[in-house]
Amino acid sequence: MLLSTAAWPAVEAYLTRSKGIVIPIGSHEQHGPNGLIGTDAICPEVIAQEAAKQAGFMVGPTFNVGQAQHHLGFPGTISLRPSTMIAALQDWIASLTRHGFTRIYFLNGHGGNIATIQAAFSEAYAPYSLRGEPAPFVCVQKNWWELKGVAEACKRFFPVGDGAHATASEVSVTFYRYPEAATAPAMSPTIAPNGPIRDAADYRLRFPDGRIGSNPLQARADIGAELVAVARVALIEEAAAFFAED
Ligand code: NI
Repeated sequence: MLLSTAAWPAVEAYLTRSKGIVIPIGSHEQHGPNGLIGTDAICPEVIAQEAAKQAGFMVGPTFNVGQAQHHLGFPGTISLRPSTMIAALQDWIASLTRHGFTRIYFLNGHGGNIATIQAAFSEAYAPYSLRGEPAPFVCVQKNWWELKGVAEACKRFFPVGDGAHATASEVSVTFYRYPEAATAPAMSPTIAPNGPIRDAADYRLRFPDGRIGSNPLQARADIGAELVAVARVALIEEAAAFFAED
């Protein structure tokens, strides 16, 4: 069930049988010459929505803008400051728990979000922890590429040049979802350089076309479909176990 396309009585009825919800969370940031700006939001969204279709759990709207400051040297990137993102996530969590969702599973698509999501969880728990009371809800985050079997599948399909940013794997998932957006512009070098991630200006100098360590010209929609299938199975299993916790 998708929260965005459900009416409130259906949500109320859902809450009588489950307290769990999956929130895809990502970013809007450059992903190299052929990667879509929304890649990190699209990947967890596709996986969560396909899993929900099969398993019947609730998927919330995608929190689709995150920590992308280091990508701001490229047009199209939108970033939240850490303090803004923490505040927004707290309000999402508080709204959901207000209505009885007590198991909130964030399926993340962007490595840069990890620290801020964890900080938001700490802020959400803080009032309870400081009062010595148990928090009436639990939040977890999982990166989609760390779901069971996904890393192995990425390695099998892309043994060379999957990379660290604008990866062949994530671009494949987006081409599966939006095949009409698939392009293959020239890229040089074939495999992008690796290096440290610092501020936006430094990033653009080190990684002039936006990629890190990747050759996304390997991306294929049919491989994206296979990656989503592996991730979907793992998410269904993980979400079911998490939602069943006492
Ligand atoms: Ni990405």
